[in-house]
Amino acid sequence: MARINFQNDAVIEEDDLTLSLLEIALKHGIPHIHICGGNARCSTCRVIIRQGLENILPRNEIEQKLAEKKGMEDSIRLACQTRIKGPVTLRRLVIDDLDADLARDQQDRAGREQLLAILFSDIRGFTDFSERHLPYDVIHILNRYFQEMGTAVFENYGYIDKYMGDGLMALFGVDECNATTNCINAISAALQMIQSLDKVNRYLKQNFEESFEIGIGIHFGSVVLGSIGHRDKVQYTAIGDAVNIASRIEEQTKHANTSILISESMYTQIKDQVRVGKTLDTKLKGKKGVFQLYEIHGLIYTLRT
Ligand code: FES
Repeated sequence: MARINFQNDAVIEEDDLTLSLLEIALKHGIPHIHICGGNARCSTCRVIIRQGLENILPRNEIEQKLAEKKGMEDSIRLACQTRIKGPVTLRRLVIDDLDADLARDQQDRAGREQLLAILFSDIRGFTDFSERHLPYDVIHILNRYFQEMGTAVFENYGYIDKYMGDGLMALFGVDECNATTNCINAISAALQMIQSLDKVNRYLKQNFEESFEIGIGIHFGSVVLGSIGHRDKVQYTAIGDAVNIASRIEEQTKHANTSILISESMYTQIKDQVRVGKTLDTKLKGKKGVFQLYEIHGLIYTLRT
């Protein structure tokens, strides 16, 4: 029999000391959060031992590994893995309703690292364009434009990460890990976007006496994919330096007077399969060093899976 003081919850007496602290808590009706089901794969059941550390049995191998990974102090234990031999005072660390809900959310939102192709596109001079036209017309035109650009992304197995005003960010390889295929798909989408722009421009000329020029930058690199935001408005997105580089490459298309530019890491993946134009050695805003960029004219053949 041992007396266990779950601070802020209850003081209980337990005679079955083969049970873990989590099992004891649940047995006595304490709503102890245990998102991974007591398998030492989260840390939501963790407790801080306030008194009686000498009555806590040593960590098992699985808890030890997680403790080292997360840098947990001796007084912080996973309740699902911890057994006791005498009285203790402890406190749950994931304790209020919001913490519990967030812990559940985080399980779904955990990021994963992935190598993929990131594409940015932008309409040149769009701010001036939008000032020349009525807001309703601008929205109508943007929707026509994004319909065509989005189709190019989807038809080439891409994922639209976000729209940013007149800009678009798309990912190729969210579910697909073959680097070459992802890069070819991204380039194929970019070429289709340029082609589809003719259609958009015919409509714009006819109805608004305008036309668009766009720039597209593509980079191949490592990102962390995950869901971000308020739980009522979550966005699945890519985060990482590779995203910033792709955006900076797109900015260079204007200075280089080209439509499509790709990075060196992208080019390395597909150099035998693309027709390139000029090559630039350039600095990218906010980045150290010189970057080699390649203008893309076309694909030698299209590979899709
Ligand atoms: S419940 Fe996940 S580690 Fe204990």
